[in-house]
Amino acid sequence: MKILARVAAVWLGMASLALAGPGAVRCGKLLDVRTGKMLADQTVVFDEDGTITAVSENAALPAGVTPVDLSQETCLPGLIDVHTHLTSDPSASGYAGLGISVPREALIGAKNAAKTLHAGFTTVRNVGAGNFTDVALRDGINDGDVPGPRMLVSGPPLGITGGHCDNNLLPYEFHFREGGVADGPWAARAKVREVVKYGADLIKVCASGGVLSKGDQPGTPQYTPEELKAIADEAHKLGRKVAAHAHGTQSIKDAILAGIDSIEHSSLIDDEGIALAKQHGTYLVFDIYNDDYILQEGAKAGMLPESIEKEKKVGRMQRENFRKAFQAGAKMAFGTDAGVYPHGDNARQFAKMVEWGMQPIAAIQAATINAADLIGWKDKVGVIETGHYADIVGVKGDPLADVKLLEAPAFVMKGGKVARNEAGEK
Ligand code: ARG
Repeated sequence: MKILARVAAVWLGMASLALAGPGAVRCGKLLDVRTGKMLADQTVVFDEDGTITAVSENAALPAGVTPVDLSQETCLPGLIDVHTHLTSDPSASGYAGLGISVPREALIGAKNAAKTLHAGFTTVRNVGAGNFTDVALRDGINDGDVPGPRMLVSGPPLGITGGHCDNNLLPYEFHFREGGVADGPWAARAKVREVVKYGADLIKVCASGGVLSKGDQPGTPQYTPEELKAIADEAHKLGRKVAAHAHGTQSIKDAILAGIDSIEHSSLIDDEGIALAKQHGTYLVFDIYNDDYILQEGAKAGMLPESIEKEKKVGRMQRENFRKAFQAGAKMAFGTDAGVYPHGDNARQFAKMVEWGMQPIAAIQAATINAADLIGWKDKVGVIETGHYADIVGVKGDPLADVKLLEAPAFVMKGGKVARNEAGEK
């Protein structure tokens, strides 16, 4: 009986990893995100692993394959958000979040992973989750247990005692500290080793204060340059990239000089910071949709009054600096901080990026080729080309003329498997 159960379990496990193809998609239009060129009548063929084997006007179909008909749609690569918190519930901010248990957080993550995938985001870099709920979610998705995007995860973000990545909501007698807190270069190195041990694909570090944390300021540095260097060095040695939360002018520079791979938020970056980012090839990630949501909905979601006040100080400057940095030619990747606002609304940031100076193609590149480069997956995702996963989004119309079309894709495919159909049903 036991053996039978085990055989059944193995079989079920394999079934849930059910092979995708071979298969094909016929695209009426296909956006080449490298050049911005719109190609007509392209057939995308993929193999049983969901990897693209051919893309051309008359690509031969494997025997017995009927292609998905997207002749009325424009295809583009599955979108990538490099700054999400899938296990965070946007309606439970501040003290409301304290009542959420670890297993409950993981289930919230499963719900949000599905929403994110259906919204056309086939890959996310998740930069901060408590208790490795993100590792569990990534593994559950990879095993086929729950639907969701491909995930790179950081586990608990590293931060100083009492900083943005600690939790300052409870008084002293509760002795509460977040799992990623580590002070001093060696403790920080040990923390990098620990999060890698428990499954992190990358390291997230809080270099400056933040908006949604209690008792600190976005502009104030938190980790010292010495600590940031130790973290970057240890992470890189272990083959992990580092993303730094940094709103503040000085902490942005400290993080770039420490060799960190991307600056998250980047709100108060100055000209020198922009020049340094260019010189070091550091990606800048500006979550510029967030401001609207925090000011309109934040109080209802439980954000502290001090957070709303802080947001009023950084929101507009962040958008102005986004424009400056983009115009100066800094490398930019698309990251939203979804989790602060509802998951699945990630694509609303495209219109903001266009409003603040980017051409639609540049905004789309930020969420495809640039994002893929930042996360170290440019050989796997970010383009519809041979050798890459068949991660495909279909929209009705021309996203270069109206970037808002990305907010409601008609079709989503991840690795050759349809996640959302033409009718837009989930
Ligand atoms: N998680 C970030 C923080 O608390 C959110 C910042 C949102 N504000 C913004 N303008 N992007 O600092």
